[in-house]
Amino acid sequence: MSNISSKSKTGGLAGVVAGRTAISSVGSEGTDLCYRGYSIRDLTKHASFEEVAHLLLRGALPTQRQIDTLGIRLQHNRELPNDMRRLLETLPASTHPMDVLRTGCSMLGCLEPEQSFEDQHIVAERLLGVFPSILLYWYHYHLDGKRIETATAAPSVAGHFLSLLHGQDPKALHEHALDVSLTLYAEHEFNASTFAARIATATLADFYSAITAAIGTLRGPLHGGANEAAMELMHRFATPEEAESGILDALAKKRLIMGFGHRVYKIRDPRSDVIKDLSSKLACADSDRRLFAVSEKIEKVMWEKKKLFPNLDFYSATAFRFMNIPTLLFTPIFVIARVAGWSAHVIEQRSDNKLIRPSAKYIGAAPRPFEPIKERKGAAS
Ligand code: SDX
Repeated sequence: MSNISSKSKTGGLAGVVAGRTAISSVGSEGTDLCYRGYSIRDLTKHASFEEVAHLLLRGALPTQRQIDTLGIRLQHNRELPNDMRRLLETLPASTHPMDVLRTGCSMLGCLEPEQSFEDQHIVAERLLGVFPSILLYWYHYHLDGKRIETATAAPSVAGHFLSLLHGQDPKALHEHALDVSLTLYAEHEFNASTFAARIATATLADFYSAITAAIGTLRGPLHGGANEAAMELMHRFATPEEAESGILDALAKKRLIMGFGHRVYKIRDPRSDVIKDLSSKLACADSDRRLFAVSEKIEKVMWEKKKLFPNLDFYSATAFRFMNIPTLLFTPIFVIARVAGWSAHVIEQRSDNKLIRPSAKYIGAAPRPFEPIKERKGAAS
């Protein structure tokens, strides 16, 4: 629950078409999601996150040879420069993990600057490979004082993340569930963080500046931080009955229930069906069925009382929990996935660029004469 109200008002560019893209579409009624024309249902069933990243960045699904060579490049990109390790060790243990990634991205831009736009695919793949290393090097150094080796032999980004986190090979179900989650989080048209990346790109800023802007934008609980908040919320309820009264009480107090609603989707978030099914499978494999029962009760109450549906962030919270991922690392997973979509949008913006600079409706003071300071009456302060 959040005291922050995204008060229902016009504004926020709701319903405004702010540009064109060939990367993804959320469907005419906002009830389906396609990446480069492929339905998210087909992609989550038949493609790996690496194949989806190739599709987003290059515009086509990869051949076997292309996906094999991409995998080798991404494995190579897991290495951390020594100066990056030193920086991560000096960050306070209390740093928010999203700030670790934002700082790590900036630092990489200092250590390995983008020499020219011709390097853009190299930078995109470097970020796809290195973010789990940055996050988990910092995490283990400050959590258990260990300097981990970040170059694992894991064949996938999902496997690399889970191997680094738990220090052992992940269960096949967990690696599959995280791989599908990364595909679900990979891209979503002109969401706030993607649009921030495009605005930075449109000024001809470098790749790292655009991605740093996107990470900073995703940090907010109305956008990226919702899955962490949803997890905190669910942890308050021991039973579905407790959840029901807790949610009713929150709604009566006009609180936002994180993980519900969406600016674009008005019927359902198609990604939620996929992640909910995964979460249910993980719950069966896990001893604690309580958490999933609590989450289903919250979903039921939110639909009955507010006609609000779960967005991707709600059931991804329980899915990540069942994979023993700490809550503070939930939103960074969003970054690890979405850097594929952000990068595709940076590259697309560069391909047909125009500075993004809308106008504003002025609602300030009417023109007035200048008052010398001794004549100003101002409020007593
Ligand atoms: C993501 O844009 C994207 O594509 C984003 C994303 C992506 O992949 O990049 O999909 C990822 O950001 C998902 C959303 C994660 N955020 C949350 O779950 C935060 C909680 N959700 C809300 O803050 C809200 O639903 C938004 C921000 C997602 C959308 O807000 P809008 O479009 O500005 O709608 P609104 O705030 O005007 O809400 C309309 C009404 C209001 O009630 P009234 O004032 O009309 O009585 O619905 C209510 C809102 O108070 N409402 C909620 C609610 N969401 C909307 N009430 C309680 N809990 C909620 N979650």
